[in-house]
This record gives sequence, structure tokens and C-alpha cells, in this order.
Amino acid sequence: MRKPFIAGNWKMNKTIAETRDLILKMSATLREIKTVEKVLCPPFMSLMSASALLEDSGIGLGAQNMHWEEKGAFTGEISPVMVKELCDYVILGHSERRAFFGETDEIVNRKLIAAQTFDLTPIVCVGETLEQYESKQTREVVSRQTSNGLRNISPEFAAHIVVAYEPVWAIGTGKASTGEAANVVIKDFIRPAIAGSYGEQTAQAIRVLYGGSVTGSNAAEFFAQPDIDGALVGGASLKVDDFVAIIRSAVK
Ligand code: PGA
Repeated sequence: MRKPFIAGNWKMNKTIAETRDLILKMSATLREIKTVEKVLCPPFMSLMSASALLEDSGIGLGAQNMHWEEKGAFTGEISPVMVKELCDYVILGHSERRAFFGETDEIVNRKLIAAQTFDLTPIVCVGETLEQYESKQTREVVSRQTSNGLRNISPEFAAHIVVAYEPVWAIGTGKASTGEAANVVIKDFIRPAIAGSYGEQTAQAIRVLYGGSVTGSNAAEFFAQPDIDGALVGGASLKVDDFVAIIRSAVK
């Protein structure tokens, strides 16, 4: 049994004061829902105050990115050791990192290995662009991102990572995929790619999320699918009612 998992990716939104406000508005309700693993990923600047507010709440805290090196001359970067001081989770290889900051599968893999070293649960994002979708390359792209991104980790760690399938054309567009279509990608492309490296048992143990325009109204359609274990939520994670509704829909 894979425990449902919902993460809110706040992206570059909310100041420290606004983070505090939003967490205070949602945390009481979220902490009551115990059968879903819940994670908030505010911007780096807000992690410190968020971690104080979320202490003993049963709500996890995640970073949206990190560097793979422990320390050194990498101006502007945040290391896994620093992330681990406040967080237990980290989003890796989000499509916006890939598109705007040049992240390759190799870079995502280095970061994943760093997550293993520093005991962070990674949420590894994969997904095809609109162009790739239209030219029917989804299988190829998603399989490649999964197998290259997940190289060289231990089988024990592999079983504990979280993968998010986020078709780029569905992110922030209001045009979500369908539950059925997303389930096919996860069941037929993503889990087999994991099984190819770490075996069927690991492929079945890993939580795979859907992401891309998930809202309180469409979430249940995704969670009804057998291979979708939750969601990585962007825009709707900034709206209290929507985010609470999404988490409620994930309760099995
Ligand atoms: P969205 O973003 O929910 O706003 O589409 C999802 C994501 O980018 O993780």
C-alpha cells in the first residue's frame, strides 16, 4: 500500500510574512488529515519561519531545488546540508528548472545522489513538452528522464523516492491531463523505467504523483487511478480552500 502524497510547490510566490499567513490559514485543517503525507515547498527565504510554524504538525517541509555539492564556491546556490537543516524533502528537476535554468538529466541525477547522501526525500519531476507530446514522444522522453535521472542510487533509497509526472503543457495552463491518460504514462512508461533499473518490487513501491493544473475540482479524477499516488500542486497550493480540497480527495 502506497500512502497518498500531496506536495504544494509554491514556486517564486509569497514573502516571509505571506508564507506565515498562508501556513496559519491551512495548517490546522491539514494536520487533522493523517492518512495523507503532506508537504509544503515555499521559497528558500521562507523555509526558516515555515519550519518553526510546522514543527510537530505532521506537515512536511520541502525545498524547491538545491545544489549537489555540500559546500564551496557556487555563488547563489543552496547546498543539501543547508536544506537538510530545515527540510526533509526537496523537489528536483522541475520542468521550470529544466527549461529556464538548463537542468539536464545528468544534473538531476547528481542532485538525487546528493539527496541520498544527505537523507532528503526527493520529488523527482519528469514530463514531456507540448511539442514532444504532439509529436508522440511522450514515452521516449519520460522513460529517458526517469532512467537517466534515477541512475546510481541504492535500491533501498530508490524505494523511498517520489516521482512526479508533470506534462509541461499542463503546468500552469489550466489544461490538466486526464486521469486515464496520466495513469497510462505512469503505469506503462514510468514504472517500467524504474523496474528496468531497480526491479518490479521497487517500481511498485515508489509513489508516483501527477502534476499540472490540479485543482480541488479535478483532483479526485486523478486519485481514482490505480497508479497515481497523489499530486504535485502549483497554483492551487496557494489557495487554502483548493489545497485543502485536494488533500481531502486523496484520503483513501
Ligand atoms: P500547476 O503547477 O499546478 O500550477 O499547474 C504544477 C507544478 O508545476 O508543479
